[in-house]
Parts: sequence; structure tokens; C-alpha cells
Amino acid sequence: MTPIEKVLIGKKSNVNPIWIMRQAGRYLPEFRKIRKDNPNFINLCLNNNLSSEITLQPIKRFNLDAAIIFSDILMLPYGLGQKVEFEKNFGPKLGQLNLEKITKVDEIDFVEKIHRVYKAIRQVSSNPILKEKNTIGFIGAPWTLLVYMINQQSPKQKLKENFFKDEFLINRTLLIIEKFLKVHIKNQIDNGASIIQIFDSWAGLLKKEDIPNYIYTPTLNLVNYIKSLKVPVICFPREIKNYKEFCEIIEPDAISIDYNVDPKEIVKNIKIPVQGGLNPKVLLSDNETLKKETKKYLEIFKDHPYIFNLGHGILPETKPEMVEALVKIVKEHS
Ligand code: CP3
Repeated sequence: MTPIEKVLIGKKSNVNPIWIMRQAGRYLPEFRKIRKDNPNFINLCLNNNLSSEITLQPIKRFNLDAAIIFSDILMLPYGLGQKVEFEKNFGPKLGQLNLEKITKVDEIDFVEKIHRVYKAIRQVSSNPILKEKNTIGFIGAPWTLLVYMINQQSPKQKLKENFFKDEFLINRTLLIIEKFLKVHIKNQIDNGASIIQIFDSWAGLLKKEDIPNYIYTPTLNLVNYIKSLKVPVICFPREIKNYKEFCEIIEPDAISIDYNVDPKEIVKNIKIPVQGGLNPKVLLSDNETLKKETKKYLEIFKDHPYIFNLGHGILPETKPEMVEALVKIVKEHS
């Protein structure tokens, strides 16, 4: 078993594996060099030689326990034929969602459009550098994808007033998302992904009464599907108000927590393995603060199965030396 599998499957608490959300990205000069010559982000994700090289960049630098494939949650709407672009200093920009058009997409069209993501996973997972490490595949949760597909850009702090107005559109789109997420998961696993993480970045936007319909029901369907393929699944319902209820209903193999939730409450209330939590801003501070904050999480979870990670993606302004220091602190802690 790999260190991460010892935590997820073996439920061991003395392992301290580590990987970092957005570990392949702009804080690495070797990534920025490739990115400069590849202004179209989607095309870069679909260039399997470059995307597999980018995926392995942080593994070559740091003693991390997993590679997460360099791709994006928005490859799903892209695969369905919705226009997806990334604008510098703005983020994702999507075209209008055309329900009639996405209803007609079949599995073959979808896989044809994004099959190079799977090719990249195959290249990455077969690389000897990943011996004793995991290759993490991922998806956006149905709710978060729905948000981007309807809103056509990041909702920042809130949804637009009339977001739920067209109930037919919302419900049909959710079903289509779920159907193609299954296809996306299956292809990632068939090509070597040994863990799946579900990113629900906008879980915190929903009112309590809307959570069952938009988060619990579709997420549970996907988690059960991943379990049926005998692969562990980690859920990251960022800023959801009730992590305990989420875990009791969804029962993922691990829960990834954000940096606003109190880790002491989590360790007290949650029985399943936990991942993450450290505020990415800590990596912008100094070595002393980094040590103190990192050890805080390691101490709180010392008798709990725990995978070290951040509470959200690493920030582009992070110095790579701070990541090196973080990995060292985690690995030397016992
Ligand atoms: O973690 C990794 O290293 C793997 C790659 C990965 C990316 N996006 C690459 C990326 C993963 C797992 C994601 C997930 C993702 N994408 C999420 C869920 C996690 C989260 O951050 O909440 C979301 C919401 C997206 C959608 C998305 N993609 C946004 C909002 C942005 C723009 C914000 C930004 O950081 O610029 C992206 C672009 C993106 N995805 C980049 C990377 C490395 C930056 C692209 C660039 O170089 O300009």
C-alpha cells in the first residue's frame, strides 16, 4: 500500500502523507515557462505530453505522495461543447449554456473531445517516479459545475439573483452533468488514476434547505459509483456548514477540509480519515509561522488517519522553498 492508501484504506494514523492542491501551477518557474508559450489553457490541458510533464514537475522537486493530473474541472463543460476560456486576471469565462445542444452529446463525442486528458493520466501513472505514490484523478462536483455552467464565470461570493429561476434547465443540466461525470471518472480510472477527488468549491454558497437536492443526492450517486469501481474517493465540499452531516450521508473514504473550519471540532466529530486544512497564506509567511501552523494540524490529527494538504489551492505567489520546508516539517514529524 502507498502512504496515502495506508491512511484511506488502512486507517493508519502514524503515516503523515502529503500532497498539495494545485501543486502543479503558477508558483513553479518551470510551469510558468511552459505556460508562457501556451496561452490557451484548455489546449495546454489537452497536450498530453506537456500536461503530463507539468503534472510531474512538483513530484520531481518535492517528496510528495501523489501526483494530481494537470487538467481542470471545466473540462466537463468543454467536453459537452460549451465554450470555456480562461482570461488572464479574470478566471474562467464560459459561453451560454445550450440545453438542446448538450442533450444531444453522446459518450463518444465527449470522450473524443477530451481523450488526451486520459492519455496524460496513462503517461503519468506509468512513470517509474510514481512508484509507491498515487495518481489522483478528479472531477468538479455536480453543484460546482452547475454554478459555472449557468453563471458562465466564477460566482465570487454570491450567485446571481435569478440563478434557480429556470427549474427545468437546472434539473436537466444536473442530470447531464452526473451522467458525463461518470464517463469522466471511469476513463480516468481505466487509465491509471488510483484515487478520485471531488472538488465542490462552491458548496458554501447553498442554503441549508437546498443542500440535499444539489449536493447530497448527486454527490452520493457519484461516490457510490466510484466505490463500485474499487477506488478510494476524497470529497472537498469547501465551506459547507455541516461537515459532520456531509460525512454521515455521503461516507467518502476521506473528507478534505477548508481553512475556516476548526480542526479540533472536526477531529472530535468526524470518524473517517481527514485531509487538509492549512491556510495557503501560511506559505507566504516565514519559516517559524509555517512550522507552528503546520505542527498545529499534525498535533490535532496525531491519533486520526490524516493526509496533509492545504485548505484550498496553493497561491501563485508562494515561494517553492516554502513548499520544500513544509514537506520536510510534515515528513520529519512523528
Ligand atoms: O491541483 C492541481 O495541481 C491539478 C490541476 C487543477 C487545476 N484546476 C489547474 C488550474 C485542479 C485540480 C483544478 C480544479 C479547479 N478548477 C477547481 C476546484 C478547486 C478550487 O480551486 O476551488 C476550480 C473551481 C477550477 C476552475 C478554475 N480553473 C478557476 C476558477 C481558475 C482560475 C483561477 C486561477 O487560479 O487562475 C482555473 C484555472 C486553472 N486551473 C489554473 C490551473 C493551474 C491557472 C491557469 C493559469 O496558468 O492561468
